[in-house]
Amino acid sequence: MAVREQFSSRAGFVMAAAGSAVGLGNIWGFPTQAAGNGGAAFVLMYVALAFLLAYPVLMTELLLGRYARANAATALEKVSHDTPWQGLGRFTGYYGMVVASLILSFYAIIAGWMLAYLVEAFVSLFGLSAAESWLTSSSFARDFLFCGIFMLLTMGVIVGGVKKGIEKWSSLMMPSLLFLLLCLIVYVLLQPGALEGLKVYLIPDFSQLADPGLLISALGQAFFSLSLGVGTMLVYGSYLSKEDSLPKLGFLVTLVDMGVAFAAGLLILPAIFVAQNYGAEIYTDGALVAGPDLIFRILPHLFDSMGSVGPWVAVAFFLLMSLAALTSSISMLEVPVALVVERRQVSRPRAALLIGTIIFGVSAGIMLNFDSWFGWVVDFTTKYSQPLLGLLMCVIAGWVWRRSELLIEIQKGHPEIEDTLFWKIWPRYMKYICPVLILITFIHSVYPIV
Ligand code: TRP
Repeated sequence: MAVREQFSSRAGFVMAAAGSAVGLGNIWGFPTQAAGNGGAAFVLMYVALAFLLAYPVLMTELLLGRYARANAATALEKVSHDTPWQGLGRFTGYYGMVVASLILSFYAIIAGWMLAYLVEAFVSLFGLSAAESWLTSSSFARDFLFCGIFMLLTMGVIVGGVKKGIEKWSSLMMPSLLFLLLCLIVYVLLQPGALEGLKVYLIPDFSQLADPGLLISALGQAFFSLSLGVGTMLVYGSYLSKEDSLPKLGFLVTLVDMGVAFAAGLLILPAIFVAQNYGAEIYTDGALVAGPDLIFRILPHLFDSMGSVGPWVAVAFFLLMSLAALTSSISMLEVPVALVVERRQVSRPRAALLIGTIIFGVSAGIMLNFDSWFGWVVDFTTKYSQPLLGLLMCVIAGWVWRRSELLIEIQKGHPEIEDTLFWKIWPRYMKYICPVLILITFIHSVYPIV
C-alpha cells in the first residue's frame, strides 16, 4: 500500500486546520449573533465556551486521528477494538461522514451565492447591467451553476491530496484571506457611521446572558466554527507527525479561529451602520439585520453607495467570503473521501469526483425544495448531530480507548507535558465533564423548558 500522506510542516497543518475552522461561520454567523445577543457579553461567553468545551473536544479528535492514522470510522474502530463497543465506534465514524457530507451540501449553496456576487462585482466594473441583474436575482439556474463551480473547486483541491491539495491551497488562501480582512476592516472603520456599529458590537449588555437559549446557540456556534464532531479535525490530525505537540497546535488553531471571528465583527457591525448612514434600512421589526439579508442586500447597498471604489470593495469582500468558504469546504469533503479511499481501496481522484458529484446532487435537491429542506438539513446537522457526535467522541476516547495508550499519544511530540496543566486536567475533564456539559446543553436545546 502507498505510504499515507502527512502535512509537510507544522505551519502547513495550522493553515489547513485554521482554514477549516475559519469559514462563513466566523465571518457571517459570529458577528451577527454577537450583535443581536448582548455584544461583548456574548463575545466573552463565546470565548469561555470555546476554551471550556470546544477546545477539549478538538483535542479529542486530533489525538484520536493521530493515534490511529486513519479516517474517523477506522480510527474509532481501532480504539474500541476488542471491546463490545467496536460497533459504536464504526457507527460514530459513518454517522460523522454522513453529517459532514450534508453540511457540505448546504454550505456549497451559500458559497455559490458568494461566487455569484463576486462575479457580479467584477462585471459591474464593466457596466454590464443585464448580467448583473441575473447574477443578483435568485434563480435555480444561477444557484445550480455557481454551486456546481464551487463544488468543482472543492473537488479539484481534494484530488491533489494532503500536501499538494489541502496544504498547498490552504497555505495560499489563508494569508490572502487575513490580508483582505485586515484591509476591509481598516477601510470600513474610516467611514462615517462606523463608530455606531463598534458600540453595538463592543458595549456589553450582560442582562441578555441570563437567557439559557443564548448559551446553546453560543455552543452550537463554537462547535460549528471549530468544525467539530464530524471527523474533519480527526482526519486532519491523522496527517500530523508524531513529533508535533498536539495541545499546542490545537490551542493555536482555536486562537486563530476566535481571533478571526472577533475581527470579522470589527468589519461586519461597522459596515451595517455605515450602510445605514447611506440610507439602508438595517432593522426589521426592531431586530438588527442578520442572515442572507445582511450579506446580499445591506452590504451590496453599501458598496453601491461608495462611488468608484465600491465595486473594488465588493470584489474584496466577496473574495474574502469565497476563500473562507473554500478552505472550509475542502475539509468537509476530505472526511468521506479519506474514509472511502482507505476502506474501499478506491483511488483518491475517483473518490473525490464521485462523492463530490453525489453531494452536489443533494445540493441540487435542496435548491429545488429550498423552503422545506434547507432549514431541516441545517438543524439536523448542526443543531442535533454535531453535539451528539462530539459527545460520542468524548465517550469513546474517555471510556473505551485504553487510557495508557491515550496518555502515550498525548506525550508524543511533547516530552515535558507532565508538568503542564493540560496533562493534569484534560484527560479527566474530557472523560467526565465534557460529556455531561454537552448532554445538558443538548437536552436543553431539544426541550427548551426554561
Ligand atoms: N468551521 C467552518 C465555518 O466556520 C465550517 C466547517 C468546516 C465545518 N468543516 C466543518 C462545520 C465540519 C462543521 C463540521 O464556517
